[in-house]
Amino acid sequence: MADAAVDSVTPVPVAIVGAGPAGLMLAHLLGRAGIETIALDTRTRHEIETTQRAGILEADIARDLVETGVSDRILADGYEHEGIELRFGGQAHRIDFQDLVGESVWLYPQTDVFVDLANARQRDGGTVLFGIKDTEVLDITTGNPRVRYTAPDGTRHEIRARYVVGADGSRSMCRGLVPEDRRVRYGKEYPFAWFGILTEAPMSAPELIYAHSAHGFALISQRTETVQRMYFQCDPEENVDAWPDDRIWETLQARVAGPDGFRLKEGPVFEKSVLKFRSFVQEPMRWGSMVLAGDAAHTVPPTGARGLNLALHDVKVLAEVLVRAFGSEGENALDDYQPQALQRVWRAQNFSYWMTQMLHTAPGGSDYDLRRQLGELDNVVGTRAGRTYLAEQYTGWPTRPTA
Ligand code: PHB
Repeated sequence: MADAAVDSVTPVPVAIVGAGPAGLMLAHLLGRAGIETIALDTRTRHEIETTQRAGILEADIARDLVETGVSDRILADGYEHEGIELRFGGQAHRIDFQDLVGESVWLYPQTDVFVDLANARQRDGGTVLFGIKDTEVLDITTGNPRVRYTAPDGTRHEIRARYVVGADGSRSMCRGLVPEDRRVRYGKEYPFAWFGILTEAPMSAPELIYAHSAHGFALISQRTETVQRMYFQCDPEENVDAWPDDRIWETLQARVAGPDGFRLKEGPVFEKSVLKFRSFVQEPMRWGSMVLAGDAAHTVPPTGARGLNLALHDVKVLAEVLVRAFGSEGENALDDYQPQALQRVWRAQNFSYWMTQMLHTAPGGSDYDLRRQLGELDNVVGTRAGRTYLAEQYTGWPTRPTA
């Protein structure tokens, strides 16, 4: 029944603020367990679908998407990669995931994961509201939290939930609802960003190349046989308009150049943007009846390809815990969420930080810094233990905490 302030009131067990991959995967997993959700997002579906994001999925996450019935498109359209190349001193060094840890990863862009999840929600009759405004989350310290929002037609609505999940990304509104004197924010800024391009060109190599060079970092990734994704380290304030195609290619080629004569296959650049990043964690991940998941609670630099994987692991743990909370265990089940999620979060924080500092050149860095980095890279590729360390982390950790 509507009250004076809103046009409608809808009860639902779980309201999910944010309908990106984390929010939608949670909705999907809860839906499979018979728990209804309403997911809502201020962005339109089109906006989310057309924002370029990272492209690597752990094998476990890819399996979850297929086995829980989101989509098996990944098997047809994704590319399974059994390793990556670390390039430094102008030489290639392969990290063979299959040989080292018996795992692989999937190149499958986040935008495709989102499309698959949005389609699965539609197919399964789940409620997802895109393009809403003025989201308000109320009463999270009670057992009856509410979410209010304005629909695209200007009408105002209220959702009455038992739990609210904040899956509203790195600029999360929800995380700010944890009282200022009770939340701890851990973070680190980096003095560089990534210049990302999409180019119409054939693949330059069978696998991703993470390149260290005296000129800075570059990452050679892929999208399809004819579209490639590449990045190079740049100033966070870099202006994309100052970068015509020939300047971009010159920069990228210089960062992968070496005695082996390796060259990237060039083509027209049809998208360019500067991606700023940082390391960030907020604790606690739960306040009363509100739980945070994914980028809302933590973000990592993209160097280790952890962000999406970490978010999807959060919601896997959270879905299990919420199913138990709605069963005989009740609210106490929620206490298991943060410890399980956080162990992985901090491991990923370390890995992403480590990859970032090992591969990027700090502005104003000395020759000593550069040579020390080469020593570090040599330590990584030079022994099976070093390569295994990288392979284990890049391909992911088990969901359960381990000793
Ligand atoms: C991408 O393909 O966009 C991508 C791949 C690996 C990363 C980051 C981004 O570490």
